[in-house]
Amino acid sequence: MPVRYDEKTKIFTLNTKGSTYAFGVNPGGYLVHLYYGKKLPSTEGVEKLWFRGVYDSLSPQSPYVEDPCFSLDIAPLEFPCSGAGDMRITALSVRGKEGNAVTDLHYKGHRIFDGKPALQGLPATFAKEGEAQSLEIALEDRVTGVTAFLLYTVFENYNAMARSLRLENRGAAPVDLERVYSACLELPGMDFDMVHLHGRWAKENTVARHALHHGLQGIRSRRGMTGPNHNPFLALARQGTAEETGEAYGVSLVYSGNFALDLEVDERGSTRVLAGINPDEFRWRLEPGEGFTAPEAVLVYSDEGLGGMSRTFHKLYLNHLMRSPWAKKKRPLLINSWEAALFDFDDEKLVNFAKAAKELGIEMLVMDDGWFGDRHDDRRALGDWQVNEEKLKGGLSSLIKRVNDLGIKFGIWYEPEMINPDSDLYRAHPDWVVCAPGREKSLSRHQCVLDMTREDVRDNIFGQMCDVISKNNIEYIKWDCNRHISEAASLALPPERQGEFFHRYVLGVYDLMDRLTAAFPHILLENCSSGGGRFDPGMLYYSPQIWASDNTDPIERLTIQFGASMCYPASSLGAHVSACPRTDINTRAAVALWGTFGYELDPYKLTEEEKEAVKAQVADYHKYYDLTHYGDLYRLTAPTENPFLCDWMFVSEDKGEALYTRVIMRRPDKTYQLARLRGLSPDKIYRDEETGELYSGAVLMYGGLDLSARSWQDLGDGTCVVKHFIAQ
Ligand code: GLA
Repeated sequence: MPVRYDEKTKIFTLNTKGSTYAFGVNPGGYLVHLYYGKKLPSTEGVEKLWFRGVYDSLSPQSPYVEDPCFSLDIAPLEFPCSGAGDMRITALSVRGKEGNAVTDLHYKGHRIFDGKPALQGLPATFAKEGEAQSLEIALEDRVTGVTAFLLYTVFENYNAMARSLRLENRGAAPVDLERVYSACLELPGMDFDMVHLHGRWAKENTVARHALHHGLQGIRSRRGMTGPNHNPFLALARQGTAEETGEAYGVSLVYSGNFALDLEVDERGSTRVLAGINPDEFRWRLEPGEGFTAPEAVLVYSDEGLGGMSRTFHKLYLNHLMRSPWAKKKRPLLINSWEAALFDFDDEKLVNFAKAAKELGIEMLVMDDGWFGDRHDDRRALGDWQVNEEKLKGGLSSLIKRVNDLGIKFGIWYEPEMINPDSDLYRAHPDWVVCAPGREKSLSRHQCVLDMTREDVRDNIFGQMCDVISKNNIEYIKWDCNRHISEAASLALPPERQGEFFHRYVLGVYDLMDRLTAAFPHILLENCSSGGGRFDPGMLYYSPQIWASDNTDPIERLTIQFGASMCYPASSLGAHVSACPRTDINTRAAVALWGTFGYELDPYKLTEEEKEAVKAQVADYHKYYDLTHYGDLYRLTAPTENPFLCDWMFVSEDKGEALYTRVIMRRPDKTYQLARLRGLSPDKIYRDEETGELYSGAVLMYGGLDLSARSWQDLGDGTCVVKHFIAQ
């Protein structure tokens, strides 16, 4: 049984195939954290591990625990609360009717059950009975009557655990929630590096790694969306942990709005991590009888370095988060009109794209921004989701029929959360826009944000979308979101509930995505937010792929894709071959193969030689589909680690096949180049498909693959080597 409770010691043990997580209920009814790390075959003595440090009189003694050295201020706590003695960052703060925010939860009971419940209104990992086991612990605040249910779900086969929280106001008066985190992770010591992903538009997901220091640190979003600035992911890597060796703890939040991954290293040199909704500008009124569910945090333990951690996230998210039928169904190879045409297209141009695409073996045409209302540029018409029949003469059905008749599927672009002031929708409903009374609205890309907290707004947008989608053979939607939220307020919420705006916005977006995917389950949904500005697990729940960046330069993409792969599977990374001139088209394809793969260029501008290359790439896409979508990723050399080259490989689960790729970013300083491969079976014999040469897995991994230059051209900027190995 992955979840165990020992009545005698009052200790909970949560085991996966390679990790143990343990905590106990102490005599005061507090949940005291004991251990998280490599699997303990026996937990004998684990109760002594509560790393309390030296007690001094500056830390308040708990009135509920006889031990005079017990203080909430120094105990490692499963779910620390504000105001009752813990002076560190805390996971929960509830302001009661007396006006103070003292919050003090005590154990009431628990239940252990098979499977995993869904989280109301929120995306979350899912598991059937037999695939995971859950533990729910009830804790009560005796003064306010607020009851907290901590939910732990253990994915035994993954070294992963999902955590969330539900609060219920069982008291007689309303309370205000001021800090609600989903999970707390206490780690003894501070000998960790924090690994996280930062960026900006067209430069998402750069990996940063730095040692922890005393005090507060962490990453947050206050943008209304997760944003490209910080991803809701971090890892704590024990110092010395490398790509394939050492311990790493991954924390990933299944949420698409204002998040916080906060860390504090206290005076004992001990580390607390909190994951949840950003408490800045958050306040939630909970009336008696009402409940509140916090988003899910996923924890992964790895003793096989950051690479092991990433592979666990990849598998878990592919199998237990991406709920679209397309997660594991072969996706069509598409060409998108954006970079080739921008707003300048009509039905003829699109049909011609489809014809050219057909000749190249491409399977779907996606009509990007510009097909609706009066949309000739980015200044107008967002919100008016009616087909522009001046551009698409004869209407959308006729265009799609012409495209389908060529044997090409059809996809379309939407930006459902947005509105231009120059639109019919705005003129009819100016109060549907996010704005603060008495203040000017800040525009961003000439647009405002629709108030997704409102059901009537969501109904309208859903209705408009249904109208187009239900009448046309649309098989793919790109859901874009091209601005963040300022003047955050809703005209539909009373003043005491304005603090709920940001979270309600996210819930509204989830509701709309839920309705859309339920109404049109056959549609492949791809998320996008000016590229990878909302690349998070919450979005992956609805759409199995997310456009990783508006930057399609393959060299720039290396940093973006290496970073995203810390947490997200290759099958989720939207990646296209574009007209970017920096490298030849084969390198662009080799990089895009580490993702969904597709094209974003004008097929009429391809030379004959490039057309032949594209045909071969299309064949490679099919040939390597399973390997790149379901195989294990090994990052060998990161582009941030080596100024000259980077390389990575995919290995099939049965280790029967591997695809190795190296890209030269800049002519290297050494001509002798050896790539030591990873993830193969040492005992298997592999054939290099191109040369027919045979190697044992051990030779390739421990000795290496000689990729020394035969000529200077081999080492030119932007060249690549792709090697396919097949076990004999
Ligand atoms: C964003 C997206 C692009 C494209 C444009 C259209 O920038 O990231 O891929 O869809 O919007 O306006």
